[in-house]
Amino acid sequence: MVDFNTNNTTSISAETTTMKYDDRRAELQAFDDTKTGVKGLIDAGITKVPQMFIRPLEQRIDNSDTNDDKRLDIPVIDLADVIDDVKRKVIIDRVRQASETIGFFQVVNHGIPSEVMDEIVEGVRKFHAQEGEERKKYYTREKTRRFVYYSNFDLFQAPFTNWRDTLICMMAPNPPNPQDFPEMLREIQIEYSKHVMKLGSLLFELLSEALGLKPSYLNEIGCCEGLTIIGNYYPPCPEPELTLGIARHCDNDFLTVLRQDDYISGLQVLHQNHWFDVPPVPGALLINIGDLLQASLYFHGLTEHRVLANKEGPRVTVAGFFSTHLQPSTRVFGPIKELVTDQNPPLYRATTVKDFVMAFHAKGATAVSSLAYLRL
Ligand code: OGA
Ligand code: NI
Repeated sequence: MVDFNTNNTTSISAETTTMKYDDRRAELQAFDDTKTGVKGLIDAGITKVPQMFIRPLEQRIDNSDTNDDKRLDIPVIDLADVIDDVKRKVIIDRVRQASETIGFFQVVNHGIPSEVMDEIVEGVRKFHAQEGEERKKYYTREKTRRFVYYSNFDLFQAPFTNWRDTLICMMAPNPPNPQDFPEMLREIQIEYSKHVMKLGSLLFELLSEALGLKPSYLNEIGCCEGLTIIGNYYPPCPEPELTLGIARHCDNDFLTVLRQDDYISGLQVLHQNHWFDVPPVPGALLINIGDLLQASLYFHGLTEHRVLANKEGPRVTVAGFFSTHLQPSTRVFGPIKELVTDQNPPLYRATTVKDFVMAFHAKGATAVSSLAYLRL
């Protein structure tokens, strides 16, 4: 029997974790009905990870699959001199190199003031620090709501649940009304998005140039049209070795701009079959090439990553996903014709963003990437 009490979150207790595991669906439903996410479990004082979060042995982190001896050198690219012709060439070379080999790079002097970055992280932290009753008002799985709080977008599809709660809001196109936001995020979320949009447009210019295309190419085809801001909240976890903050995945967008937590790490990148830690670089933003950009171009293959659960916490990160997601759109994205040659034949078929995202959702989190769906 499941003992999540839907009326009173404080009654979720340690017994939950020792119950006989015979009904995952009921356990998920009871969890979802609390409308207070993983944070609600911590508030209730659990000391063991409930069964729904526990991964089978082969999916747990063990020392063998994390490469402790070697560090993966994720380049830190300084954008300060991007308008200087000579220095811009160097920047573009580094962007090309990183995109072709790892699919990740960090940027500094990216133009987003540190106060703005701190404030958006603080806003997400404050939202979750509120009483459960306040958070509940925003908890929903309704696709029509503009500002959404939930735990695990694929809660009912995925085989295991991630140790993370999420705030999600599509900021472009069609930004929401200020009153759609909780107060602590109302102004800063709009402000932060403006900056991320501007940075995104610059990054798409650099990526276009890195591919030998005219600077405006990727912006003109619409890569920068949609932006979703995701506030990730990873509560401290009593038994981090049993679960994950986010299972291995690739982002189903064109490009992701991630503000990592300054203090608590946990993000890992898969490179040549090994997992590497990505320690936070203060003030930097981590950029990763998403599946939709991989599908259009000839950059490095998958950019798989995951987040470990942590005894310390909360870990708070803010991700900007460039994609129009499920918005209706007639734009079709496919291999860029200027780049197709006999030696470089198209690998993926063309798609709308919406069809691509729907294919991703249909698989739930069991899919590491949806690129296979487009493979020719
Ligand atoms: C994501 C993601 C990493 C992090 O939101 O897709 O991979 O460190 N986030 O929060
Ligand atoms: Ni991701």
